[in-house]
Amino acid sequence: MKTKACIFDLDGVIVDTAKYHFLAWTRLAEQIGIHFTEKDNERLKGVSRMDSLDIILEIGNVTLPESTKLEYAKVKNDWYVEYISKMTPEEILPGCLDFVRLLRAAGIKTAIGSASKNTPMILERVGIGEYFDAVSDGNVVSKAKPNPEVFLKAAEMLGVTPSECFVFEDAQAGVQAALNAGMMCVGIGSEEVLDQAHHVVPGLEGMNLEKLEIIEKGIKI
Ligand code: BG6
Ligand code: MG
Repeated sequence: MKTKACIFDLDGVIVDTAKYHFLAWTRLAEQIGIHFTEKDNERLKGVSRMDSLDIILEIGNVTLPESTKLEYAKVKNDWYVEYISKMTPEEILPGCLDFVRLLRAAGIKTAIGSASKNTPMILERVGIGEYFDAVSDGNVVSKAKPNPEVFLKAAEMLGVTPSECFVFEDAQAGVQAALNAGMMCVGIGSEEVLDQAHHVVPGLEGMNLEKLEIIEKGIKI
């Protein structure tokens, strides 16, 4: 197999933190007087913290000075951190650990490629930090997906070329970032939403090296 590394998005691929982001953003939206729904929350997947706030303000037709926005983003993050600090290893999504173990046993490198600045805390809380050879996250990159920076940085940390990497992503912007990086991409979620990916699966359950090789060859499964 040509593939030498697999890069995983964190939120929505390894753990379901979208619910905690939703709780914290709703709390903030209510405080500002904006009605924010679970459907609106879909728009925030893979989007950076400040861009997420901008989307919420746009929904409520609210304009705020930059300093207030920074303040609000901090308040939201404090609440979010409160939620994720209670996460446990049971919250790792089905199939993730088995697949990562298979990859490592086969000598394929693994990395995280996430926009989140809270990546280290989440990895520590769910106890999977040791399974990844590199962590490229919101603390080391500045350009948000669909910019490929986060995945290119992961490849650089692993010492592999982009064409030797597979990315696993649940967000449209993330799939686009992987393609922009010149990497293969498996979408995690619905085929309708992630139609740009090379292949889409509902989750990592049942994913293995044989399937990866088939996807790499471009054969539909
Ligand atoms: C992404 C999430 O992984 O990280 C987004 O999908 C989130 O919803 C972004 O806004 C930034 O996360 P954080 O933890 O730095 O606010
Ligand atoms: Mg995600």
